[in-house]
Amino acid sequence: MPKPEVVVVETDLLILGGGMAACGAAVEAAHWAKQNGLKVTLVDKAAMDRSGAVAMGLSAINQYVGLKDGANSVKDYVDYVRNDLMGVTREDLVANIARHVDSSVHLFEKWGLPIWKDENGKYVHEGRWQLMINGESYKVIVAEAAKNALLGSGVGQIFERIFIVGPLMDGDRCAGAVGFSVRENKVYIFRSKATLAAMGGAVHVFKPRSSGEGMGRAWYPPWNSGSSTYFTLKAGAEMTCQEVRFIPVRFKDAYGPVGAWFLLFKSRATNAMGGDYMVERRPELEKWGPYGRVKPVPANLRNYLGMLDVLEGKGPISMRTEEALTKIAEQYKDDPKAYQKKIKELESEAWEDFLDMTISQAILWAGTNVQPEQKSSEISAAEPYFIGSHSGASGAWLCGAEDLQTAETKSEYFWGYTNMSTVKGLFCAGDASGASSHKFSSGSHAEGRIAAKSAIKFIVENNALPQLDQAEADKIVAEVLKPLETFEQNRKLSTDEDVNPNFIKPRSFMFRLQKIMDEYAGGVTAQFATNKAQLERALELLAFLKEDSEKLAASNTHELMRCWENVHRMWQAEAHVRTMLFRGETRWPGYYMRTDTPQLDEEKWHVFANCRCDPKTGKWEMLTRPIFHIFAQQKAEAPAAQPAAAR
Ligand code: ADX
Repeated sequence: MPKPEVVVVETDLLILGGGMAACGAAVEAAHWAKQNGLKVTLVDKAAMDRSGAVAMGLSAINQYVGLKDGANSVKDYVDYVRNDLMGVTREDLVANIARHVDSSVHLFEKWGLPIWKDENGKYVHEGRWQLMINGESYKVIVAEAAKNALLGSGVGQIFERIFIVGPLMDGDRCAGAVGFSVRENKVYIFRSKATLAAMGGAVHVFKPRSSGEGMGRAWYPPWNSGSSTYFTLKAGAEMTCQEVRFIPVRFKDAYGPVGAWFLLFKSRATNAMGGDYMVERRPELEKWGPYGRVKPVPANLRNYLGMLDVLEGKGPISMRTEEALTKIAEQYKDDPKAYQKKIKELESEAWEDFLDMTISQAILWAGTNVQPEQKSSEISAAEPYFIGSHSGASGAWLCGAEDLQTAETKSEYFWGYTNMSTVKGLFCAGDASGASSHKFSSGSHAEGRIAAKSAIKFIVENNALPQLDQAEADKIVAEVLKPLETFEQNRKLSTDEDVNPNFIKPRSFMFRLQKIMDEYAGGVTAQFATNKAQLERALELLAFLKEDSEKLAASNTHELMRCWENVHRMWQAEAHVRTMLFRGETRWPGYYMRTDTPQLDEEKWHVFANCRCDPKTGKWEMLTRPIFHIFAQQKAEAPAAQPAAAR
């Protein structure tokens, strides 16, 4: 391959990513950039219409607070999130999103997203916080608005199919990013005054359950490969909640969503003996301090109760779709025609739930003759993912909004610009931002808007383009392209392009990473359990893997992307292992169990576990940060109000 062209792009705000958070950022940034005569550049590794976690669509919007109807308060949402994360959350970040999220949802509707309405014109809720949508085209609609905002205002430009590798620094300030095109022979140096990282979470750090023909199928999008974590870590940002992986329970093998079944259809999940683990194992919840007594039961504890059944050989666990649908239709049993009509309606809602967001699950149903109104379906715990937006919490440690701080929180949670990381000029949103779970798609969009507005303020107040150290930039470009060179130099040493004494291809590298994580860091094979000795062994093996990452080889630009995706995953893995090792307790059974410290230790570990890797020395620093409340506390045992029935 000839030497690639190096393209330098100068901008004011650089938005990295094209998912929900980046789209929110684009809309907001366009507005404020126009007022201030600034330029905005958005870079996506894929195409915005179908990129990020919402690419396939969604059947529900999981965060809608409903402030206008007085249904809930911001504090209600904060209470919900804190309880679900076993007490570990940045209340100021959660509250900031909660007070803005409704307006993002209203924008989606204005842009053309169909949200279900009842006969009184009110949104149909799936649960207390969730709205039902016809969302197959959700991402297309949101991306169109983002593109119109950037391109229509004349302030923006969009680069698609550019994979961002890492940050460009000017001392302690983020000065932009380096990436390459996966379609053209070009390397890009983006110079910026502020950078907003919104490149999603990470999948395939752990070995997936899927194998053979279905290999790589996962719940969360497989193209989210840890770029946000790598970017922020490499810039020297402090990270938080890196131990908090998310394990969703999903319809088995195709990872179909369960939310509509549990919340909208009010389905039960039962074991092989017909027992309901949420009922039979309720006493187990008492072991988990105040968090075992909250309503709804935290997601990890729900997982845990089901896992205990599986560990005792009581699997499979089944979602009782047939029972749930029949129960709803029973209200019409005196009128056979109305009964049949209701069953048909429910059947079509059940299929749409999958068709809107997990088409492969509908295909699996069709392929295995499942009629949900007649037959239950197996559910199981998926492999771990890293995600700051759903029920995980991993991401960068960010500055909160000034008006949400208390005298106590300000010195710990505030350092100038909302959603800025501990690195000057580097902002984060969506899965890139930590300790602010349960923002989902709508909250990620709202957080993108919050971060972009703040980043524009930063630019206005720090309006000089950081210096570009040309020698450093040349070094980074050479490093980015190295796998192509490694391949060219060594390919003739073997008759097989994938097996070579002098290099490792990204696919093999990924399998090696996944095996380490699966076996030693509490993956599916290890039944989500690990301990100090196993984590130390994982670190030892990860160190060898890191050495060998120098020998990654790529035969084309697509494979070059695969190489870097796996380097990103490897850094996510290391941050995770180090933080699980650091937190000497088990706080999230159902996500992972530290078998050597199997209990909650509220006295010592009611804190954030943070980490930082010094970009100059490569040394890791582990530290704790205090958990403060920004609202007056209610007793944890007082159950939050349950949602009104959706129908
Ligand atoms: S989705 O992202 O794939 O749609 P999921 O199916 O887990 O998510 O659930 C959708 C929403 O319902 C999330 O807000 C989740 O926290 C919530 N949820 C799912 N199951 C339950 C349950 N059994 N109890 C309370 N909340 C639930």
